[in-house]
Amino acid sequence: MARSIIIDCDPGVDDAIALLLALAHPTELNILGITTVAGNVPLHYTSQNALKICALANANTPVYAGCPRPMVRPLETAANIHGATGLQGTELPEPQQPLMVQHAVAFLIDTLQQTQEPITLATLGPLTNLAVALIQAPAIATKIDHIIAMGGAITHGNMTPAAEFNIYVDPHAAQVVFKAGIPIKLITLDTTHHVLTTAEHLTHLRQLNTAVGNAAADLLAHYGTPDQERYGLPGAPLHDPCVIAYLLQPDLFTFKPTYTTVDTTSPDNIGRTVIDWWGRTGKAPNVDIAASVNTPDLYALLIKSLAIL
Ligand code: BDR
Ligand code: CA
Repeated sequence: MARSIIIDCDPGVDDAIALLLALAHPTELNILGITTVAGNVPLHYTSQNALKICALANANTPVYAGCPRPMVRPLETAANIHGATGLQGTELPEPQQPLMVQHAVAFLIDTLQQTQEPITLATLGPLTNLAVALIQAPAIATKIDHIIAMGGAITHGNMTPAAEFNIYVDPHAAQVVFKAGIPIKLITLDTTHHVLTTAEHLTHLRQLNTAVGNAAADLLAHYGTPDQERYGLPGAPLHDPCVIAYLLQPDLFTFKPTYTTVDTTSPDNIGRTVIDWWGRTGKAPNVDIAASVNTPDLYALLIKSLAIL
């Protein structure tokens, strides 16, 4: 039976690839809705981009626009990496469906309150929508069997020396989610920096000779240069598709249970995920942190999946 999921995202290039990966697997993933949040680019663009990716995949999955800014802090985008509109420079079809009228937070609450079966949350951006939903209706936590999130860093950040983008943009939201008592799997930069797109991967995507393969190759060709320069990486890290890859093939990853919190106060460290990797605090684990990834198999899954669309 397909696993029921909601994907919360801020497309964004790697979010777009993650959505395509998910949309290629309707028999395994029953996507109840895609919720969008301000993050990589402002909400208008993340919502339109989600609709365009659905159109590219010939899917009519409903898209709900959510929060236009973080809970407390002003929005900082990653337009330097994703372009001003998020998916710039790649030809994509126009949306084939309108945005849903319902707000993403209301959709999350209604869907979780009404469900008879547990739902998995796949989060690819700042956690604002989910945090606001949990504040408004705390009982929905019991309906979420798992949150699989891309975010955080054990070592160095990509927004500041301490903080990774998704957590940095809305650290207060991340703290609410981490403290909600829901099982969480967190795939941090330390893992996604092993999932690097090479020229060979781009060639494989183009060899699919499909609209999806070409669009994915175009998107990835211009993506991640700042990360490569900053970290001296031989390819651009493919962050968000790791979340969907985990849902499709959990054995691609190993995880370690940890007690994890988010710094919401210190000027230098705000947004840092404070990960008790060694069990130093003695506190009960609340977040499983990714410890390893099988990159060749993950890319094989991605390319095989995009070939279906
Ligand atoms: C995360 O930040 C965003 O720019 C990407 O889409 C990803 O979700 C990586 O730090
Ligand atoms: Ca993202």
